Amino acid sequence: MDVAHICFLCSLFVCNYAASPPNFVLVFADDLGFGDLGCYGHPSSLTPNLDRLAARGLRFTNFYSTSPVCSPSRASLLTGRYQTRSGIYPGVLYPGSIGGLPLNETTIAEVLKPLGYATAVVGKWHLGVGANGRFLPTRQGFDEYLGIPYSHDMGPCHNLSCFPPDVKCFGLCDIDTVAVPLMHNEVIKQQPVNFLDLERAYSDFSTAFIAAAAEKSQPFFLYYPSHHTHCPQYAGAGAAGKTSRGPFGDALLEFDNTVGNLLATLEKTGVINNTLVFFTSDNGPSLFRMDRGGNAGTLRCGKGTTYEGGMREPAIAYWPGMITPGVTQELASTLDILPTIAGLAGARAPPVVLDGVDMADILFNHGKSKRESMMFYPTDPSEDCGLFALRLGKYKAHFYTQGSIHSTTTPDKECSTFALRKHHDPPLIFHLDADPSEWYPLPLDGQPDMQELLERMKRVKEEFEGSMLFGESQISKGSDPQLEPCCNPQCSPKPGCCHC
Ligand SMILES: *[C@@H]1O[C@H](CO)[C@@H](O)[C@H](O)[C@H]1NC(C)=O
Ligand SMILES: *[C@@H]1O[C@H](CO)[C@@H](O)[C@H](O)[C@H]1NC(C)=O
Repeated sequence: MDVAHICFLCSLFVCNYAASPPNFVLVFADDLGFGDLGCYGHPSSLTPNLDRLAARGLRFTNFYSTSPVCSPSRASLLTGRYQTRSGIYPGVLYPGSIGGLPLNETTIAEVLKPLGYATAVVGKWHLGVGANGRFLPTRQGFDEYLGIPYSHDMGPCHNLSCFPPDVKCFGLCDIDTVAVPLMHNEVIKQQPVNFLDLERAYSDFSTAFIAAAAEKSQPFFLYYPSHHTHCPQYAGAGAAGKTSRGPFGDALLEFDNTVGNLLATLEKTGVINNTLVFFTSDNGPSLFRMDRGGNAGTLRCGKGTTYEGGMREPAIAYWPGMITPGVTQELASTLDILPTIAGLAGARAPPVVLDGVDMADILFNHGKSKRESMMFYPTDPSEDCGLFALRLGKYKAHFYTQGSIHSTTTPDKECSTFALRKHHDPPLIFHLDADPSEWYPLPLDGQPDMQELLERMKRVKEEFEGSMLFGESQISKGSDPQLEPCCNPQCSPKPGCCHC
């Protein structure tokens, strides 16, 4: 660590971190909406551990992911860059995808490795597998991995044991693909996965990882992207049938239990006061699943859309003694996590265009955000259309709106897959603090202030788009069934024989 960094840290904290850099635990929920947690107002969810984290930490109300679907959102989280730069678009990666997060992208794990951090990821990777596992997390700076490398609905229904056990699956899941595998590093441990035991395996793995690092006084980074609460919901013995909300509530409780186990482990191993725990979610709720999907609370639409419900997420930062409990309305994003972690660790930022800004002032001083804007790309971004929407301060302009299959079946027709792409010129502008549900576009005609705002938003959009170099699409490279992870690679006929 150089002198400038030590001084920077000392100006922020009581000066004891130069000797022992902080640990980071990053918890990432799946398809969990803005309104799903107890601490975000859900009336029947049971989330005591996340609620405790919020009560003793900093809870965000204006926190965004960069995409309304999974793989692109994860690419941005780990790189601090919009997914259009890394090429993780359109849509998401599949078990046999040829592409993945390009290896020359720098992940948070790779930022921390040179400083001697132990790094592990447990859960849903979803940034590619590829030929010979070339896109697995072990190739992107993580020492260890335990998990399913993509969504757990990307496998035949009969491999999914949902609660209650007689309901094998709810909704659609993929057929003609291999059974969902559990991988340890680059080796398949189980295929199909036993979902009823999975969360316990994750919790045990995380506990062992933290304990081993703490024992060696080695700083660590644990990334826990959970499968909860993506469909189909499942829950093991500790949570099944334990909530009044039903299968979604049980899955969420199981996730919350793991958060509780992580906190207990940090406490027990004596590292809790030197660890930043950060929690958020990848994208909005899958409203298509109706009462088995999540809830966007006061926000409009959900997964798949560039309305607020698709990308504004619950987020909590927790660090006892360092973060004063409270709520912040400052604008922040998953993009900001990499620069913030790099700053706290005293690590060098990767020599690339970063879209994130350091959140330290928000976290430690309840200060102002360095972020003025947030960009909204659809699930299939293109240079022709550019941004669908842009948030500048408290205002958001929609240049395009479009519904999504993931938000179909809500009473609001604009969310549905039948709401085709609409171009808005002038854009629809909403005052998000006054109207977080995006119901009432502001009148622009004969309003000089609004005209001025509109011009400013267009300038910010143009400037941003001018700086955006689209990376080669990794997902358009397509899929090859031979690349699907198979525990018995030479067997036939596939995919059915990939069963060990
Ligand atoms: C990674 O390599 C590709 C292909 O050479 C290049 O286009 C891209 O800019 C590189 N990305 C980074 C972050 O260096
Ligand atoms: C963390 O700090 C608090 C307050 O100073 C202290 O009471 C607690 O024992 C510390 N916990 C550990 C595990 O060091």
